[in-house]
Amino acid sequence: MLAIVVIPALLILWIITSIRRHNKSGLKDIPNAHFSVPYSRLWLLSIRWRKKENRSRIYLHRRLGPVVRLAPRELSVNCVEDGIRTIYSAKFDKDADFYHALVDQTGFMVTMIGNDEHRRRRRMLAHPYSNSYITNSGTIDNILSRVKHRLQEGMAQWASTGASVDVYMQAKCSMLDVVTGFLFGSENATDTLLDPSFENDLTTLTQATTKNLHVRTSLEWPMSYFASWIGGNVRPDPVARSRWEEWLTQVITNSYRSHPTKPSSTASLYDHFYDNFKAADPEMSLNDMASFIAVECDDHLSASHIGLGILLSYTMYELSRAPHWQHALRKELGTLNEPSELSLAHRLPNLRVLDAVVTETMRTRAPCPGPFPRLVPESGCRLVGKFDVPGGTVVSSSAWALHFNPDPFPVPDEWRPQRWLEADEKTEVEMRKWIWTFGSGARVCIGTHFSARVMKELLITIYSNYETLLDEEFTESVEQEDVFSSSPLAGRIQLKFRRLTQPDTMVVA
Ligand code: HEM
Ligand SMILES: *[C@@H]1O[C@H](CO)[C@@H](O)[C@H](O)[C@H]1NC(C)=O
Ligand SMILES: *[C@@H]1O[C@H](CO)[C@@H](O)[C@H](O)[C@H]1NC(C)=O
Ligand SMILES: *[C@@H]1O[C@H](CO)[C@@H](O)[C@H](O)[C@H]1NC(C)=O
Repeated sequence: MLAIVVIPALLILWIITSIRRHNKSGLKDIPNAHFSVPYSRLWLLSIRWRKKENRSRIYLHRRLGPVVRLAPRELSVNCVEDGIRTIYSAKFDKDADFYHALVDQTGFMVTMIGNDEHRRRRRMLAHPYSNSYITNSGTIDNILSRVKHRLQEGMAQWASTGASVDVYMQAKCSMLDVVTGFLFGSENATDTLLDPSFENDLTTLTQATTKNLHVRTSLEWPMSYFASWIGGNVRPDPVARSRWEEWLTQVITNSYRSHPTKPSSTASLYDHFYDNFKAADPEMSLNDMASFIAVECDDHLSASHIGLGILLSYTMYELSRAPHWQHALRKELGTLNEPSELSLAHRLPNLRVLDAVVTETMRTRAPCPGPFPRLVPESGCRLVGKFDVPGGTVVSSSAWALHFNPDPFPVPDEWRPQRWLEADEKTEVEMRKWIWTFGSGARVCIGTHFSARVMKELLITIYSNYETLLDEEFTESVEQEDVFSSSPLAGRIQLKFRRLTQPDTMVVA
């Protein structure tokens, strides 16, 4: 009886206070994504839960402009000047609630919330990821030549049998083999192009984490807590997990042992991280150091494995749909036959078609669409010159919404490498500002130069001597899943390989 009176009364009270609060909120002039968003987060959580955040953000911004309110204290921002330039600066901390829901483990760079702590760690990790280091690294030369060799063996076989090949898996294997070599030295690199069982373990683990992450970021506490009870949280496969952890422990131990005697020409990332941690804090215990380095390495490893696997395989897929771009690319790769003093890594910037093809895929198939939420500092901020946003508001952008904006990118849904080749200098500079595959600002991805070099060199290996074709029998969806880390929905991408016969188009790479 009491419930019949009390519950509606509480409800009415709640509605009145929400409306009052909304009326006072500095956010009330900002267009609402849905009529309910000033009062409740449910709408935002529901699009995330139904895996529609991508499409929703794209169309909302087309309809409502560059700033849209998604929840009582959350905004989506979709412009560069006075937008991402502002909110991804060092003044804005990461939103702890979101990033802690994202991962089990904290204490590595991506999950650091405050910018001071982050700046110190970034200084320790960033040097071997700089452009000049990546371009000149002998360790990367070594590991890439091994992986290219493996890939060539594979392609020779696929072409001769006419097999249908899951290039998503092959791309993930290639990337895993490269990044483990860079992290721990080629003697401890994985060889999953030859034996993919290890890659399968990692993919199994990643899928479990992705599901977890989707559940956690789209439910409000205490729902996410109950969801973990009823099995909403997927338990990572314990066998795969222990195999993986055992391997990581072994290579880290080996890296630690071989560190003192290693010549700098064969230094791996581990060696740099070790020296930098030691220099920053000589008192740190060995165990602490080993575990800090291990979680950073684990993170770099999975970013390369999945992120670059997605990008490489989608580039191959788009090229298979557009044979004339394969042709243009091959013609450009022919220029590599001209004698040169420079290494391949130093010649990459001259390959404009290759760059256009890769950049356009980064635009249409960004592997991490976001959102990457930040907290407005106490002093507040002003967006697009007219909205004064109070401190404590969560603001975020999404790569897909930026990339599918028709202003910088006319006909945004189409994969059109020519937009990068035909644009005049000014337009190109403007378009590049909108590319957000790796984020931007103080916490932009440190893996961008590494990613570009590895992606491009592997594409050269593939397209110098082979053609790729669509497999007509493969009809599953190659759309990306609309979640934080976006693999193809089918879980695979099937293509066929054909060896080129005209000797004049063949390249030694
Ligand atoms: C296609 C591949 C990749 C994509 C799409 C990607 C994307 C991103 C994005 C969007 C961020 C910003 C996240 C945020 O603001 O919360 C980020 C950060 C980061 N990425 Fe990547 N990444 C890729 C590859 C890599 C690779 C290969 C590495 C290392 C080997 C790496 C290491 C990192 C690290 C350490 C951060 C954190 C930087 C910081 O907090 O200062 N990523 N990445
Ligand atoms: C909202 O605030 C304005 C003044 O800022 C006031 O005139 C108006 O009555 C308020 N509306 C409600 C529903 O509280
Ligand atoms: C790493 O390399 C060392 C030295 O070659 C070797 O003894 C060790 O077995 C390797 N460990 C793994 C897990 O590959
Ligand atoms: C995101 O939206 C765009 C535009 O509708 C679409 O082309 C793309 O496939 C979508 N991606 C996902 C993963 O939903």
